[in-house]
Amino acid sequence: MIFEELVLSDVGPFAGEHRILLAPRSTDQPVILLGGLNGSGKTTVLESLLLALYGALTPGSTRRAGSYEKYLRQLINRYADPGRGAAVELAFRAIRDGAWHTFRIQRRWWAVNDRIRDTVEVSRDGAVDIVLTEAWPEHVETLAPRGVANLFFFDGEQIEAFADLEMAKELVRTAIGGLLGLDLVDRLQEDLVVVERRKRMNAVAGEKEQQLLQAQVATLEASRRQEADALQAVDEAERDLGHAQRIVDQTAQRLAAEGGDRYRAREELQDRRHEALARYRQSRAALVEALGGLGPLLLLEPLIEQTVAQAVAERRQTDNQNLAEMLTERDARLLDVLRRQRVSENVRQAIADFFAEDVAHRKSGQGIPQVLGIQPQTLSFAERLLAGELDEEREYLRRSVEELAAAQSSAEDAERAVEAIPATDAVEESVAAYEKAMSALAEAHARWEAARRGSEEAAARRLAADRNVQHELLQANATLLQSEEARRIVEHAERARNTLAQLRAAATQRHTKRIEALILDSLQTLLRKEKLIREVRIDPETSELELLTHDGHPLRPGTLSAGERQLLAVSLLAGLARASGRLLPVVIDTPLGRLDRDHRHRLIERYLPQASHQVIVLSTDSEITSDVLVHLGSSVSHMIKLQFDQETRSTVVKQGYFSDGQEAEGSFPEIEVKQV
Ligand SMILES: Nc1ncnc2c1ncn2[C@@H]1O[C@H](COP(=O)(O)OP(=O)(O)O)[C@@H](O)[C@H]1O
Ligand SMILES: [Mg+2]
Repeated sequence: MIFEELVLSDVGPFAGEHRILLAPRSTDQPVILLGGLNGSGKTTVLESLLLALYGALTPGSTRRAGSYEKYLRQLINRYADPGRGAAVELAFRAIRDGAWHTFRIQRRWWAVNDRIRDTVEVSRDGAVDIVLTEAWPEHVETLAPRGVANLFFFDGEQIEAFADLEMAKELVRTAIGGLLGLDLVDRLQEDLVVVERRKRMNAVAGEKEQQLLQAQVATLEASRRQEADALQAVDEAERDLGHAQRIVDQTAQRLAAEGGDRYRAREELQDRRHEALARYRQSRAALVEALGGLGPLLLLEPLIEQTVAQAVAERRQTDNQNLAEMLTERDARLLDVLRRQRVSENVRQAIADFFAEDVAHRKSGQGIPQVLGIQPQTLSFAERLLAGELDEEREYLRRSVEELAAAQSSAEDAERAVEAIPATDAVEESVAAYEKAMSALAEAHARWEAARRGSEEAAARRLAADRNVQHELLQANATLLQSEEARRIVEHAERARNTLAQLRAAATQRHTKRIEALILDSLQTLLRKEKLIREVRIDPETSELELLTHDGHPLRPGTLSAGERQLLAVSLLAGLARASGRLLPVVIDTPLGRLDRDHRHRLIERYLPQASHQVIVLSTDSEITSDVLVHLGSSVSHMIKLQFDQETRSTVVKQGYFSDGQEAEGSFPEIEVKQV
């Protein structure tokens, strides 16, 4: 399929009719660049392509939160007459029945009172084709199946979500379904259920039973619709929840940058300063008190040692002198005894001499000057000091000084922390924003929970209704399936359904291997760290995707940078697109926004030119820099510029070419292009 031309009439910012030529000029120039500032209508171009192809059945458009009618109404240019409305027209070529044909789909819509009417008309090779028009939703499935549309037409800003492997699972599942035509199998299965049910219904004989059954079927249908609504509500709630979470993250970041953490902890910080100051004062008082005790004596320790030595010597000398007095008297008595016992004169004289000499020696002392004359209690106090009390005091004082220093430094820290608390009016706004965001998050979470519960309940009710119908039918049918034909159809339908289920499983199994290989190949081509991923595994039952790094561990995309995640998502899409075997144009809206220089070059060199035979790149002017063009140069067919014109209050479409070394008419002089 090749898009040739898109015509927008009063769609979004395009007031009046605008033609955008999309066909590449040659097969080796597949890239068409559509550039424009934000708000110039790039996304509108992507949406218009999808709208033209799929109408109300457009898969997963991000701006389509509300109903289709509301969406169409919003798309009518605000300066146009709503009664005349708007139109998109897409011309493309595609192979059909073995030959190329040109198709043109035109969708118009306009307001009638408060409703929106819309029509579609499809022509083939220049002539309106009524059959094709009437069954367009089926035809488009054979040309560009909705199941794979996401792989070819996507918004670069949003694909990053697919790097979340949970989200990717859904993508892989729809893609596998789409690729293999399994959605057709699914629909067939559903249709068979309907056929079976209808036959059984017809076989119900009694009027009463018929009525009862019809009532139950109506209940079933209603519960189906409720289930779908509930699922949509869950989707919406999930989106809101994500949005609320992002706002919380943003406000928390801003608050942190403004010192909000300290602000919110201000009372605690002030308490801490209070405590630190108290502790400082306490240790200071303790030290002062200690210094009023034995402390100062530490300065006199050598003097005390000398004093004690002197006092001890003085005491020993005095003791000796006192002893000499006592000995003189006893010696006299002993000499008297010796004389009465008639001990010889010689001996007595010798003893008397010895005594006299000993006493004289004691009395004369060691010549120590009596300077201190210290009291015995005082001496023993001084001796205790030296024996350990001074050492203990020294240790105690050392500890007190240390404690004081520690208390002082933590008091200073606490003081600084308090001084750094931002003033209330500086952070008030951020604090309020953060608190509001937190409560919005809590509410969004509660709503999401409620929506999820609602959806579970709706699913349960639908299941019950389903069983009721089934049960009732079987009851009513048990004896009544008389018609041979009806019975045969019911039986065959059941058997066919089982066969289809088996077919689906087998086909999926076989094709997942191929898809794994193709995804791995695009990952390795695109991701910067060549060996980052060694293996891709897809669980054929759950469609769960697992990426294994070179050391065999599963890759957690959360650990990649935003740019890498975006490339990962592009690789997934590219791999799946190749696996689809479909030859469809690729349209990417704003693909480079989040990429750094290296990643940009990867995407530009290795992906864009090879993505398909027609690659329409919608990007902001700032993305298409001259170095981008240098890399893309030879593969670019032409450039289109979308520019909002204040005069006409409309976006205008300008077309330019560059190639063959010369700039053709209508080229954009402000962009310099080097040939490579
Ligand atoms: N019905 C409308 N009438 C006029 N302008 C519209 C209408 N709907 C959207 N716009 C404008 O179109 C612009 C959005 O276009 P969009 O395709 O998102 O641009 P881009 O993708 O280039 O940023 C916005 O400026 C918006 O105001
Ligand atoms: Mg956009």
